[in-house]
Amino acid sequence: MPRLVFERTRFEVDYPDGVSVLEACDRDIRAGVPFSCRHANCGICRLEVTEGMELCEPRTNWEDELLTYLKEGPTIRLGCQLRIAAGEGVVRLRVQ
Ligand code: FES
Repeated sequence: MPRLVFERTRFEVDYPDGVSVLEACDRDIRAGVPFSCRHANCGICRLEVTEGMELCEPRTNWEDELLTYLKEGPTIRLGCQLRIAAGEGVVRLRVQ
């Protein structure tokens, strides 16, 4: 089970398999990630993956479309779209 580390709030949680980052954040406000549209429209939930990108599922088409429009690099993901693969390791996330 991967471990999620939210750098801004220093909150850490073991990530349950099959749960999205959005769901994980909804379960505990200490994650500190802001959300608005929740559908890859606004970009407020941008996160920099500072460790563990290999554990992140590829961008969805909607996520890729918005992040390309915003000219964000490959380490930036949308918290409302990001899913973490099952496995061991740490995924470190920094709110943008
Ligand atoms: S909450 Fe709007 S893009 Fe994620």
